Amino acid sequence: MSETTIYLDNAATTRITDNVLEAMIPWLKEGYGNASAVYSAGRKSAIALNKARAQCAEILGCESRDIIFTSGGTESDNTAVFSAAKSAEIRGKKHFITTAFEHHAVLAPMRELESRGFRITYLPVHENGIVRVSDLEAAITPETSFVSVMAANNEIGTIQPIAQIGELCRAKGITFHTDAVQAFGNIPINVSEHNIDMLSLSGHKIHAMKGTGLLYVRNSAKLRPFMLGGAQQGGKRAGTENIAGIVGLAEAMRAAADGLSAKNEKLLPLREKLISELSRISGAKLNGDRAMRLASNVNFSFEGIEGEALILQLDLMGIAVSSGSACTSGSSEPSHVLTAIGRTYDEARSSVRITMSEETCDSDIDAFLDGMGTALAKLRK
Ligand SMILES: Cc1ncc(COP(=O)(O)O)c(C=O)c1O
Repeated sequence: MSETTIYLDNAATTRITDNVLEAMIPWLKEGYGNASAVYSAGRKSAIALNKARAQCAEILGCESRDIIFTSGGTESDNTAVFSAAKSAEIRGKKHFITTAFEHHAVLAPMRELESRGFRITYLPVHENGIVRVSDLEAAITPETSFVSVMAANNEIGTIQPIAQIGELCRAKGITFHTDAVQAFGNIPINVSEHNIDMLSLSGHKIHAMKGTGLLYVRNSAKLRPFMLGGAQQGGKRAGTENIAGIVGLAEAMRAAADGLSAKNEKLLPLREKLISELSRISGAKLNGDRAMRLASNVNFSFEGIEGEALILQLDLMGIAVSSGSACTSGSSEPSHVLTAIGRTYDEARSSVRITMSEETCDSDIDAFLDGMGTALAKLRK
């Protein structure tokens, strides 16, 4: 079906791996019972659901009861922000802190809260794309009740100091949420060790199905549900559970956690090769910190080049990468992530993001670099 031969857009989504698909198939075929039903087909689904929940909890370092399965990163982020907002309204502590370069799944709910009278502080992320704990400390006031800082950025892959942020928030009695959609499977994450109160995760970034994900909530009994309806998941998230998707998510998380060190060992030299080769191109500028970034991520701006045009040239060669600019209703807006790290409008529009998975190999990188040479020569002519 696909004509892409070299896939380097794994931050956008990933291929479903065979182990995940095989884990899911029985629950798509014969195991279709509704987990709320009392007869045996339903009970079997409920058992699979509980097993998957326990597995995810063990991997994240928390209690099973604090895992809520959702439809993905967007729903998890929205649930976290709006639940915190309801608690904040009751406590009269309507100051939230986040960063300027969060995913829109956090930023859009924050903007909605601003229109409801909340005060939101957007921390700077500086030229290296990393939040400073001292900036966070300075922004905290007696009215602050919620902090949301992503564990790693989706465009430039920079890793944030979430352990220190968690420690600071814990000491101040502030709820700390992290969007770990891009970080999970790339860096170790343990909610207990890192003092994380809420964590969002998405299945399709780690080789599970689109439309799957979870939200971890410490003390989930206090969660104010976002999805209302039936009593599924202890009333914390209404809606018939997607057993196949959830079983696949648990399997994908297991594989990601088990394969983490091997993945990083494999990808670090590939990332370094990409960075050193692309840096030689005239007008090339690396976006985001050189070292504190995911082993899977490289993001460059190329002076005088339209990112979208470069991507289309590479696509003609069967190579899939993405650009930092998102098309909004026909007009190409520069990425808010790149402008947050101080890139100009033109620099932001000239960016290309290359994101690898554990399946990426040396020959993919060589072919990509060759393709880049050809595409850039064509475009610069
Ligand atoms: C950091 C981050 N948060 C949230 C999301 C949204 O996740 P989903 O596509 O599962 O809704 C994404 C997806 O790109 C992401 O990269």
